[in-house]
Amino acid sequence: MKFFIDTANLAQIKEAQDLGILDGVTTNPSLMAKEGISGKEAILNHYKTICEIVDGDISAEVLSTTYEEMIKEGDELAAIHPNIVVKIPMIKDGIKALKYFSNKGIKTNCTLIFSAGQALLAAKAGANYVSPFLGRLDDISVDGMNLIEEIRIIFDNYMFDTEILAASIRSPMHIINCAKIGADVITSPLDSILNLLNHPLTDKGLAQFVADAKKLS
Ligand code: G3P
Repeated sequence: MKFFIDTANLAQIKEAQDLGILDGVTTNPSLMAKEGISGKEAILNHYKTICEIVDGDISAEVLSTTYEEMIKEGDELAAIHPNIVVKIPMIKDGIKALKYFSNKGIKTNCTLIFSAGQALLAAKAGANYVSPFLGRLDDISVDGMNLIEEIRIIFDNYMFDTEILAASIRSPMHIINCAKIGADVITSPLDSILNLLNHPLTDKGLAQFVADAKKLS
C-alpha cells in the first residue's frame, strides 16, 4: 500500500519524506488556502517546491469546474513536473476532462468520490486514481469503509488499472482498515501516520531495555 500525505504544509511534507515511507502528496484548494497560498504564480511555485521535496505522485487540484477551464488549468499544472497528477472533481465536465488527460497520457486523480457509481465512471474515463472520502462519509453516519470495499470489488471484477486512493483519513484505524480491505493508497494527515507508531507496550518495553542497557556498560 502506498502512503501519501494529505497536506500542502512544506514542513509536514519534509517530516514525512524524512521518515522514508512517503510515496506521494495530495493537496486540495482548502489545504492550499490553509497555508496562505494564493495567486496562480504562488500556487505553481508551491507545487514545484513539493515536487522537489518528494519524488512521487503529487496531486494538484484544478480550481475551475468547466471542461474548458479544467483542461487549460490541468495542462498548466502538468507542465510543472512529470510527477504532477491533475486532480479533477467528480462532475460531468470532470469526466470529460479525465478522458482528455487520459488520452494525453497525463495522470489524473478524481476527487470527491462518495459512491461506487462515481468511482466506476471515473475509472471508465481513465482516471489513474479515485479518491473516496472516508471521513466525510463517517461524519454523516455512512460507513466510509464500506465504500472502499465496494470499489475494490468492482475494480477487481473488471481489472481496472485505476488505483483506490483512500482520502479524508482521520485516524490510524482508517489506515489499518484500508490496508485490510486492499486500498492501493492512503492519503493521510501526518498525525494519523505518526499515530501508527504508538503502542504502550512498546514504550514500556523500551524503557526496560534502556534501563537494562545501562547495566551492560
Ligand atoms: O484531500 C481530500 C481529503 O483527504 C480531505 O479530507 O479531512 O477535509 O475530509 P477532509
